[in-house]
Amino acid sequence: MCGIVGYVGHRQAQDVVIEGLRRLEYRGYDSAGIALVADGALATQKRAGKLANLEKAIADHPLPASDIGIGHTRWATHGAPNDVNAHPHTGGSRRVALVHNGIIENFAELRARIEADDHVMLSETDTEVAAQLLELQVESGIDLATAMLRVVRQLEGAFTLVAVDADDPTRVVAARRNSPLVVGIGEGENFLGSDVAAFIEHTREAMELDQDQVVTITPEGVSVLNFDGTPAEGRRYHVDWDLSAAEKDGHDWFMRKEIHEQPRAVADSLLGRRTAEGHLHLDEMRLSDQELRDVDKIIIIAAGTSFYAGMVAKYAIEHWCRIPVEVELSSEFRYRDPILDYSTLVVAISQSGETADTLQAIRHARTQRSKVLAICNTNGSTIPRESDAVIYTHAGPEIGVASTKGFLTQLVACYLLALYLAQVKGTRYGDEIDQVMAQLEEMPAHIQRVLDDAPAIYEMAREHVDTRSVLFLGRHAGYPVALEGALKLKELAYIHAEGFAAGELKHGPIALVEAGLPVLCVVPPAGRDQLRDKMVSGIQEVRARGARTICLVEDGDDAITPYADRIVRLPRVPVLLQPLVAVVPLQLFACELATEMGHDVDQPRNLAKSVTVE
Ligand code: F6R
Repeated sequence: MCGIVGYVGHRQAQDVVIEGLRRLEYRGYDSAGIALVADGALATQKRAGKLANLEKAIADHPLPASDIGIGHTRWATHGAPNDVNAHPHTGGSRRVALVHNGIIENFAELRARIEADDHVMLSETDTEVAAQLLELQVESGIDLATAMLRVVRQLEGAFTLVAVDADDPTRVVAARRNSPLVVGIGEGENFLGSDVAAFIEHTREAMELDQDQVVTITPEGVSVLNFDGTPAEGRRYHVDWDLSAAEKDGHDWFMRKEIHEQPRAVADSLLGRRTAEGHLHLDEMRLSDQELRDVDKIIIIAAGTSFYAGMVAKYAIEHWCRIPVEVELSSEFRYRDPILDYSTLVVAISQSGETADTLQAIRHARTQRSKVLAICNTNGSTIPRESDAVIYTHAGPEIGVASTKGFLTQLVACYLLALYLAQVKGTRYGDEIDQVMAQLEEMPAHIQRVLDDAPAIYEMAREHVDTRSVLFLGRHAGYPVALEGALKLKELAYIHAEGFAAGELKHGPIALVEAGLPVLCVVPPAGRDQLRDKMVSGIQEVRARGARTICLVEDGDDAITPYADRIVRLPRVPVLLQPLVAVVPLQLFACELATEMGHDVDQPRNLAKSVTVE
């Protein structure tokens, strides 16, 4: 939540900062602002609303040339999203400007202390407290990095702070605790960003920082200190994607581009997972075979769409490995006093690797001696860094706020984890694992086939612009797909949508069904237990009550035809893998319906991509 940029070097800082904010805008778009240092003074501009408002304000009142600056795009926590509360905030004498991501929990007490000393606060934010404190420190005659160290020791909560001092145009200083910040390493210039997208246009060399560190960038170099003042080293790494991955590539929305990238993303996510002998091999597993054999329970924790990937993982792991699996929302996990010990494996699924609820949950698990394995898309992010093992999903940057390729590649990582555990624990024969891997390797082609039918889905979506409510039904692995279809519709089209386990319908929700209500039904493949037949009964029941049924059915299954108002064909795949194809029409449906309704698909209202506050 909130995007932060810092720059010092030889370019026009305004251009670097605004371009960086554009690439980070998915992290929050309640307001945007910039501060430059020029001729020994701060030049700032900030506006409520999207970045375009800030750009207009700068066009009307140009900022001076400068080669050092900071910027911010906000997802509001403390204080309404207006001009005054927009970042950057400055101290009372406008010497220091500061931007912030996170929440300073003891801000009320600090604010009272500052106001008691006759300093006037202009905004309702917690951030201004940090700006005031920092300015008071530099005015006492110390440098910005030392001042930052003194300030962070007074703060409680989670924060990334980035600041400039009008009296020192050579450096940008930042601090991080439980909130993301990466350094971009250039030649004669250096960058700071909430993630690498902020500077990918200029450099692919990056440095990750640990918790509780202060970093200073100058044109010549980067230096890192721990909060106790001891020197530290950041870990350098090369970013394995480039600017083109952060562009829309001719699509109207990042989300649509990312939906269409899914065949490639799934293929990348499967790449290099087998040794020459055909054994499964996971790069950053870091847990020994013995440690995995000792696992007698798995708890999967995640939020939102990632939680639904976890629900699918439960079916796969229990079926292939015979290990009991619980799936829990990370925001609930540590408050119920979960039973954890060294033989519990906690699997944290997070596209961003920064979700605060999930991060706190894994920290709790580790204090209870459980091992934590992260499934994550973002290299260098906090959750994989604090985990014992990682499976990176390799989806490439996901910029649309609604997760799509992030979800599909999480599913792939979950299947890989399940098969790996089956291999280590010996619960499946090698040839069975090979067979599933071969089926997974066919999935990119199957997903492409679903995408080739996009025009028909788009047409169906356009027919639903006046719809105010939609239900989604699924069973078994199709149940999380129904939940995900409903979530996509809620967050993009802002209409009432609910996903149900089809068997639960009769226990209450069927009362919602009335004439003309669209009900999207994810029909399980034929041949697995009586899942498909039970689903057909459920479809008949809602149709008998006037619902319009839109059925996602595998090729060749005609039993549904008499009960379906519309049929969407899916490739024939095994039931456990069906989510990989079944969710795609639901993504296309939500994307097109929201577009037709005139909504901003990439930046839905009230949301942010990376939820770094609890
Ligand atoms: C919905 C969506 C969110 C995220 C959730 C978790 O489209 O994107 O529900 O899935 O906020 O985020 P991560 O996976 O980054 O932890």
